Amino acid sequence: MLILGIESSCDETGVALYDTDHARLLAHALHSQILMHQDYGGVVPELASRDHIRRTIPLLHKVMSDSGHSLDQLDAIAYTQGPGLAGALLVGAAFAEGLAASLEIPVIPIHHLEGHLLSPLLSRRPPSFPFVALLVSGGHSQLMRVSDVGQYELLGETLDDAAGEAFDKTAKLLGLPYPGGAALSELAQHGQPDAIKLPRPMLHSGDFDFSFSGLKTAVLTKVREIGTPSEQQRADIARGFQDAIIEVLVKKAMRAVKESGLKQLVVAGGVGANRELRRQLDARAVRAKIDVFYPELEFCTDNGAMIALAGALRFQAGVSIKPAGAFAVRPRW
Ligand code: KG4
Ligand code: ZN
Repeated sequence: MLILGIESSCDETGVALYDTDHARLLAHALHSQILMHQDYGGVVPELASRDHIRRTIPLLHKVMSDSGHSLDQLDAIAYTQGPGLAGALLVGAAFAEGLAASLEIPVIPIHHLEGHLLSPLLSRRPPSFPFVALLVSGGHSQLMRVSDVGQYELLGETLDDAAGEAFDKTAKLLGLPYPGGAALSELAQHGQPDAIKLPRPMLHSGDFDFSFSGLKTAVLTKVREIGTPSEQQRADIARGFQDAIIEVLVKKAMRAVKESGLKQLVVAGGVGANRELRRQLDARAVRAKIDVFYPELEFCTDNGAMIALAGALRFQAGVSIKPAGAFAVRPRW
């Protein structure tokens, strides 16, 4: 079976084709709008929707030609139904539903976070069910117990800002361009450990929830105290921030794995691309005798491949399949 996947929830248009018979991603294509939004310091929803309209058809043609398949061979189309920007989601949903209706094949609406959660299954060394997942993106920070496709138990989540959001807001305070997560982590490499000591929010709260907005405020206070930070002070602040957020993520994730009695931790979402987070988790995992799994770097941030995969797994399980036609997006799902 050939499942097409379409992602358009925010500022990336992704299209991919997955073959369920060979459990293999056949082709994928991505267009990132980051440069377009950078001048505004964040994603402009109306510009995002319009750009998804421009990009989707060319990306579809590229995926079909790269895979060597034709549209009439498709068996179903999966698309991101939510959460995300309403207008952006509508572009992908309308496109997927329209194409599926014309081909007389079903659709599989997918939760964006399920895509992230399952994305490590696309890698050469995939995890097996069940596992604990740390999902850290621009919009969410959650710890989950994943028993099987569609069987997810929320263990804890952020009470305010998401981890990626905290990275981006702190990066902005340090004058880095949007989205600043990766740039902030580069800058942190030049910072001194403990030169700037920041709070570890909810580290000892005894649950699996997070809170990152106070950390961002602590950075703001430091920047104001200093006035105009030197290059070294900016790097020290970046280091202090990254050390604080990673310590909380690592401690809580490792405790969740221990308490679950499971032996596998999956890390997904844009912040999962962070090298220092990976280094610390890998070191702790060796001591705890557990395995940590990450998506390939290109599938950490938003992409169509994870939506095609989630659609393929749901299609195989016989769930969430519906005839093309009437549809609604779920921006706050
Ligand atoms: O998963 P994603 O592409 O989008 C959402 O679904 O939100 O995640 C994007 C987020 C952004 O906040 C970005 O700054 C952050 O992931 N990010 C990073 C790194 N690469 C991307 N944060 C920290 N370190 C990185 N290397
Ligand atoms: Zn995402």
